[in-house]
Amino acid sequence: MRISLRCVLALNADMFRDNAHALSRRRLLAGAGAATLLCLPLPAAAQRHAAARFTLIARPGKAALRGRERGETAIWGFEGATPGPVLRVRQGQRLDAQLVNRLAEPMTIHWHGIRVPNDMDGVPNLTQDAVMPGEMFPYSFTCADAGTYWYHPHGNSAEQLGRGLYGMLIVDEMEPPQADREFALVLSDWKLDEDGSIDPDFANAQESSHDGRIGKVITVNGAPGREVALRRNERVRLRLLNAANARIFELGFDAEGSPPDPWLIALDGQPVPPRRLGKEHLVLGPGMRADLLYDAVAPAKDRPPLLRYPPGDDPVPLLHFAIGSDSPVRPEPLPAPKPLAPNPIPAPDLARAERHEIVFGGGAMPGMHRPGQLERAAPWTVNGKSMISDPHTHEHGRTEPLLTLKRGTSVILALKNDTVFDHPIHLHGHTFRILSRNGKALEAPPLTDTILMSQQESSEIAFVADNPGDWMLHCHILEHQESGMAAVLRVAA
Ligand code: C2O
Ligand code: CU
Repeated sequence: MRISLRCVLALNADMFRDNAHALSRRRLLAGAGAATLLCLPLPAAAQRHAAARFTLIARPGKAALRGRERGETAIWGFEGATPGPVLRVRQGQRLDAQLVNRLAEPMTIHWHGIRVPNDMDGVPNLTQDAVMPGEMFPYSFTCADAGTYWYHPHGNSAEQLGRGLYGMLIVDEMEPPQADREFALVLSDWKLDEDGSIDPDFANAQESSHDGRIGKVITVNGAPGREVALRRNERVRLRLLNAANARIFELGFDAEGSPPDPWLIALDGQPVPPRRLGKEHLVLGPGMRADLLYDAVAPAKDRPPLLRYPPGDDPVPLLHFAIGSDSPVRPEPLPAPKPLAPNPIPAPDLARAERHEIVFGGGAMPGMHRPGQLERAAPWTVNGKSMISDPHTHEHGRTEPLLTLKRGTSVILALKNDTVFDHPIHLHGHTFRILSRNGKALEAPPLTDTILMSQQESSEIAFVADNPGDWMLHCHILEHQESGMAAVLRVAA
């Protein structure tokens, strides 16, 4: 791989091996008030044999969520930062991560989208005991699938994620697509009080029964929208993650003038046939990811932004791409990328699959007495039952499995969102195919771990129940998850 650009040159080769070194350098740059995003080191040959060992200390920290001028906010973060460090391994490599809990409450880590053995899945009281304050837990598993994933706690989720505990996990392809640099872009939002501190009301019934906790302060990598400095005809890989509790990000690149036109190459970690994004908007519910290749082809004076489209409002720039007027990296932009190699996800046998119906219900409902208004209703449900986290211990309720599947069975779940809200539905331990939406079959059923279901939408998903254990199926709007929209699927050993 050619590593010729200044960013990469500026990085010490040790960074490829030494995560702690990378971190301290990143903190230094952040501390100096860097206006531009620091790119990630590209995977280097040296990394192939390096042990992927990490220590993740969950502890309080500070972040300039509203920009340095407006002061810092007390947060909780892995290594005291939000987002926490980017963990990076090569496909097929083992990841060892020692969690050290320096919070004042129990916690765990869930590895979102990674098909881990059940006892590594990080769901307290279901797959492991919660890690108590001052204690440690050694996570260790092999990453079979390449792609963009993430890690976050799974108990008292609304508060622990809402205060900043999460980070990106990158599993490098055996043959990564050609790109000069990479940027990990973790999107989130924050509900702050006037003094800039995090609003501590994480169990707000009004929010829980409606859209969830939506914050007005929007950040990319824990800071307000920033600038990405690019060189002409450079190709960068953008890895986007929506780490917000509840906000659905709708994103697009259509700028005035000559619209930049990135390639979409993966969704939720899984390769898609590369396509130009054009005017298409990317809709990322909480937990969802997208990988793009962006060619810096716009004229030097242009500063094309990445926009977000708030519902019913004008688009707002999220990131600016400042394309330099210095000599181009190459005379012409790179040609169309080749598709990424598919991940080794078993294909379900649809002709023999077991079929089960799963209905998501509850939440606020259209008003009976005041038409046009929503009224608070029952808690959220999955097939009429609510798995509600204990408001004091924050333990997931110990519900019996909604379904018990025989190991190795092909399964079709007919999902129905019978509510007036959208829900990103996430399944643990398995990657599934989306066969249809609202009765319409999808050609080339996309693979994912999280499906964003619009209100009243129905969808069929399919997978091979090949990973034994008890697995969560839940809405990734964390306020919905904690107030009932969660269930357990058991894959019998
Ligand atoms: Cu990203 Cu059950 O979670
Ligand atoms: Cu939901």
